[in-house]
Amino acid sequence: MPPTASSQKVALITGCRSGFGLLTALDAARAGYRVYAGLRDVSTADDLRAQAGELPITPVQLDVTRAEEREAVVADILAREGRIDALVNNAGIAIAGFWEQFDEDELRSMFEVNVFAAWALTKLCLPNMRDRRAGVIVNVTSMAGRMATPGLGMYAGSKFALEGMSEALRHELRSFGVRVVLVEPGPYKTDIFARNRRMCRASASELPDGPYARLQAKVTALFDRMGHKMGDAREVSRLIVRLLDDPTPRLRYPLGPNVRPRLLIRKLLPFRLEERVVDRVLG
Ligand SMILES: NC(=O)c1ccc[n+]([C@@H]2O[C@H](COP(=O)([O-])OP(=O)(O)OC[C@H]3O[C@@H](n4cnc5c(N)ncnc54)[C@H](OP(=O)(O)O)[C@@H]3O)[C@@H](O)[C@H]2O)c1
Repeated sequence: MPPTASSQKVALITGCRSGFGLLTALDAARAGYRVYAGLRDVSTADDLRAQAGELPITPVQLDVTRAEEREAVVADILAREGRIDALVNNAGIAIAGFWEQFDEDELRSMFEVNVFAAWALTKLCLPNMRDRRAGVIVNVTSMAGRMATPGLGMYAGSKFALEGMSEALRHELRSFGVRVVLVEPGPYKTDIFARNRRMCRASASELPDGPYARLQAKVTALFDRMGHKMGDAREVSRLIVRLLDDPTPRLRYPLGPNVRPRLLIRKLLPFRLEERVVDRVLG
């Protein structure tokens, strides 16, 4: 017999060990959601547990790249709660490096987390949302999903992919009453720039006289300068939680330092002029 749906709203959020995921889990629980907080390795839930206190947050084992874990988590939530009101596809990795430096396994591993896993988990949640004619999918992409920059092109590719897929999904689900929203942060201070900072193997071992050494040094210097201008990750979690209960959200929510001027440049300038801006910064 199908379980009776609980009266409280239920959210499944991925990548809750740190950064936006952890903060969104806390903020969503404070806003009244029963939160299932996915962690790549549930034994790393110490920060989450310590900050959650009595909040209704259940840490769950969910390496989003593992089909059996995705299926088990969704089945378990539906068995207990009878509903999933919100899915936040937040888990993500960023591997830096230039196109030519990437090995295939590195590119595939990034797309597994950032694209395939979000597609697969969403697919598992949709039947319940469609049946109840309610629900929201929030996909955390990036400013890099709107504009690609040298040294982060493969990451941008994964986020552009999720943007395109989500745009179509929004159209596909409108008549079922299910909302699809993209949150597109600029640079925010999270573990993606610290504990989880990654570069592809060839980039990490580029010699000083290698073909990309000069450009790499410029990109790294730019990142180091940006380090002082990163936003407070709470802005992103607050936005995500606000969007969970917005009955008529827009498709895209860009936010963060320098995001507006960058989007304006993209909108107003022909790409040739944008190239000149990049040349000036990295040339
Ligand atoms: N911070 C920014 O400036 C920024 C800007 C634009 C977009 N984003 C996006 O925001 C999202 C969250 O990143 P963040 O900035 O909060 O970085 P973060 O602190 O590194 O958080 C990323 C989270 O994703 C988890 N994760 C990685 N691989 C996973 C997997 N296979 N299964 C389940 N979870 C996995 C990580 O867990 P482990 O640590 O255990 O691996 C971590 O909890 C990502 O999609 C990222 O691309 C971030």
